[in-house]
Amino acid sequence: MKERIKFYGRKKGKKLKENREKLLLNFLDKVKLDPEKSFEVTDIFSQSFDKHVLEIGFGGGEHIAAQSLKNQDTGYIGAEVFINGIASLLAHLTGHEGGEALADGRVDNVRIFNDDVRLILPSFKNNCFDKVYLLFPDPWPKTRHKARRFVNHPQLDELSRIMKSGGEFIVASDDMTYIRWALFVMSERKDFDIIWTKSEEYFTQPNGWEQTRYETKALNQEKKPVYLVFRKK
Ligand SMILES: C[S@@+](CC[C@H](N)C(=O)[O-])C[C@H]1O[C@@H](n2cnc3c(N)ncnc32)[C@H](O)[C@@H]1O
Repeated sequence: MKERIKFYGRKKGKKLKENREKLLLNFLDKVKLDPEKSFEVTDIFSQSFDKHVLEIGFGGGEHIAAQSLKNQDTGYIGAEVFINGIASLLAHLTGHEGGEALADGRVDNVRIFNDDVRLILPSFKNNCFDKVYLLFPDPWPKTRHKARRFVNHPQLDELSRIMKSGGEFIVASDDMTYIRWALFVMSERKDFDIIWTKSEEYFTQPNGWEQTRYETKALNQEKKPVYLVFRKK
């Protein structure tokens, strides 16, 4: 058994509709990862992919669902603890509520870890991910909660280990405390470079972007999200 890690966020929201409950019952098992195993990322899928991408805290799954549909040569792993969000991603993947199979036109290129991502990171062998997304993470803006922010050295040590050299770590947030924090912590790392240096580029969505739910919320409130791209050396 791996050690339990304390999780501070929400695991459940409002009661799920019957169809979403059915999706969790009928479909989650087909795509979920077992953290007790140690694996090569290539062994997770039933076919081989050119690239592998990890999305941490995918929320409602809008970004991973759209990216995985568009990039069928890439295997995606998404981690999320919030059960309503997991059911939402399953609905995106099956294309209909309560479904038991992938939607037409989808390849089987998404796997889900339905718990705290920190529990699965040690299961991955070294140098497997081409890209890692951390999109609109819980900001934990109070200084006394800064240890709860995902961007902290213990998590970054693990990301660094499982990312390929040249791989990208993409962090987006509309919370400037988080952005300043991420830049500060990442500046202490010898194993990552920040890619963009012109200040206006921080406000530009990287190529091939798919908007997330929290990003839409921020834009509707006229907040300006910042997009940081770090490259693993
Ligand atoms: C503010 S929401 C953003 C969701 C989504 N990325 C978006 O942009 O719409 C942050 C999400 O990260 C998830 N989360 C936070 N810590 C996590 C962890 N350690 N492992 C997996 N998911 C986590 C939360 O459950 C929540 O759904």
